[in-house]
Amino acid sequence: MEALGFTSGRVLAERGRLYTESACPGKRVYGERLVRSSGVELREWDPRRSKLGAYLAVGGTAFPFRIDSRVLYLGASSGTTASHVADICRDGKVYCVEFAQRMFRDLVKTCEDRPQMIPILGDATKPGEYAVFADSVDMVYQDVAQKRQADIICDNMDAFGARYGMVAVKARSEDVTSPPERIFAETEARIRERGFRIVDARSLEPHEKAHEMIVFERP
Ligand SMILES: C[S@@+](CC[C@H](N)C(=O)[O-])C[C@H]1O[C@@H](n2cnc3c(N)ncnc32)[C@H](O)[C@@H]1O
Repeated sequence: MEALGFTSGRVLAERGRLYTESACPGKRVYGERLVRSSGVELREWDPRRSKLGAYLAVGGTAFPFRIDSRVLYLGASSGTTASHVADICRDGKVYCVEFAQRMFRDLVKTCEDRPQMIPILGDATKPGEYAVFADSVDMVYQDVAQKRQADIICDNMDAFGARYGMVAVKARSEDVTSPPERIFAETEARIRERGFRIVDARSLEPHEKAHEMIVFERP
């Protein structure tokens, strides 16, 4: 097992497969494989089920998650990726925002076993409505598949005083008729206009079609 250098040993890779060290041994979230290595339990992280996993699988290294990070996660769904973030940030907090009732019910179950995960039924376009549940955070991660993806994350960065942002941009959610490259360029330009510096931007192909991960920071 090789520890990925930038993750303080909490994300590991072996023969092209990714793993996080489980913060909740014995529990699966989405049927993932559990393996033991050097006395610890690892959960396999499937890049076809997680855009953050896909970002690492395509060689992304701008990875601001730390063991004690406070993360605002927008579009948590049932908690597949958020549970890996919780493995990495096991001494921090992962505030998981989701607005679909059905997904939220599954998310609550995922959070029950993981005290560092806090489920929030809320609309990511209205940060003022859930600000009461989380005061300041170190970073915002977003995967919401809807229009105005740049402004939604930037509004949340400003509302919660976050230093780092990471957004999985789905081109087709912005405009099905525009070429994805144009959508990505416009999204990056909007993030810069909002006063942030882009640290990395890369395609998630072949794991996710017409998606780009943008990592940025407050200068
Ligand atoms: C692609 S899925 C997220 C998958 C998840 N990030 C993962 O990797 O496990 C997008 C999710 O965002 C949610 N969503 C979309 N718009 C939202 C909004 N404005 N506020 C909160 N959740 C939203 C959807 O209900 C859906 O569950």
